[in-house]
Amino acid sequence: MTRKAILTIDGKSIELPILQGSCGPEVIDIRNLHQETGLFSYDPGFTSTASCASAITYIDGDKGILLYRGYPVQQLVDNCDFLDTAYLLIHGEIPGVSEKEKFERSISSHTMVHEQLRSFFQGFRRDAHPMAIMVGIVGALSAFYHDSLDIDDVEQREIATHRLIAKMPTIAAMAFNYCRGRPLPYPQNGLSYAQNFLKMMFSLPSESYQVNPIVARAIDRIFILHADHEQNASTSTVRLAGSSRANPFACIASGIAALWGPAHGGANEAVLAMLRQIGTKDKIPEFIEKAKNKNDPFRLMGFGHRVYKNYDPRARIMRKSCHEVLEQLGIHDPLLEIAIELEKIALEDPYFIEKKLYPNVDFYSGIIFSALEIPPSMFTVIFSVARTVGWVAQWNEMMADPAQKIGRPRQLYLGHPERKFMRPS
Ligand code: SDX
Repeated sequence: MTRKAILTIDGKSIELPILQGSCGPEVIDIRNLHQETGLFSYDPGFTSTASCASAITYIDGDKGILLYRGYPVQQLVDNCDFLDTAYLLIHGEIPGVSEKEKFERSISSHTMVHEQLRSFFQGFRRDAHPMAIMVGIVGALSAFYHDSLDIDDVEQREIATHRLIAKMPTIAAMAFNYCRGRPLPYPQNGLSYAQNFLKMMFSLPSESYQVNPIVARAIDRIFILHADHEQNASTSTVRLAGSSRANPFACIASGIAALWGPAHGGANEAVLAMLRQIGTKDKIPEFIEKAKNKNDPFRLMGFGHRVYKNYDPRARIMRKSCHEVLEQLGIHDPLLEIAIELEKIALEDPYFIEKKLYPNVDFYSGIIFSALEIPPSMFTVIFSVARTVGWVAQWNEMMADPAQKIGRPRQLYLGHPERKFMRPS
């Protein structure tokens, strides 16, 4: 028996079905609202809107729970690597030995980019932000891989999916090296996904390079934690682009663009700048007051979340990993002490308690990245490498839905009613 919501407007009532998922909030199905009432719903920022049905990732913001296909993210960090997680998000199950080997072989066969794409980098200034390069080069993949642009062909969708997962680390490492005037690297298959990425990032033709297993494990864990996160801004961008039947490379390029914003994936870079701006523990109260001041645009970067009104489970894992990695690498980073003190003071402050503002995934990631000798400009790039897995999983889920249609929201119009043309004298 479907429960119903009754909406009464000017004495006329309509019934709206209430749909129930496998867990989490139910939804009111308003697909017929405009047809039956002539009215639109109004929800700027989509604070109360479910844009789609999905089986991929579940978040309970009040309890601080994050599940990938039902598995708590901590269990995946403890028992899997990033490609296990990629397979899980895309196919819905943890891969067995043979599925994993086949998946890894396919990904490895796509890690290089077309040789002509390498010349695209020459068009960028050396001081370009690497995210600008990522948006440009990933979008340009559409100009090269014509055998995986037919979005109605399941096989071509799979090839495009594997190409994107495989090429993102290569393009990211190429961007990193291009901006430093170093030769553009080539992947070395046979290494793990994280090892290959680190080798492409840091190895030089003139030196032998051994991947530090501690660093590789840390990067793999960071990739897992950033892989997917329900219908966040960049994933919603990928879905909306995909709903117009744009090719997968263009859709992922749009996701990279949306992720770049400091309110979203760009926050990790902003957190490190903020910690450096604070500089010393005694300055923390001054910045906490700035963050609380409505007339001051300053916000505590890495704090707060649209969904989590509890500690972001990813931040908890990142914080533990921070301590482990810095200890294992024998690094003492004063910014970590500032971050821990800042978190402590903020979490005891009535403003943050009342507004349920907790550290999010971006709060500690910058400190780990710095320990891994990754510069701030690459933080969001690494986020985009990991999130590509979530974007392609969500894109595939949408493209496999026979009911899929173009996303086309309406508006509350506040402009001029119709008026007669008249040129001012
Ligand atoms: C990511 O959606 C996802 O899932 C994203 C993500 C993912 O994996 O895809 O989790 C990744 O983007 C994490 C968030 C990274 N961004 C930051 O750390 C930037 C700092 N945080 C804020 O800008 C903010 O918290 C957002 C953007 C994250 C969430 O904003 P909302 O949900 O629109 O909340 P809001 O801006 O309406 O804030 C509610 C209140 C406001 O005060 P009032 O107007 O009610 O008085 O809390 C205040 C805000 O001023 N507030 C903050 C704050 N965040 C919110 N005050 C100080 N510092 C902050 N960081």
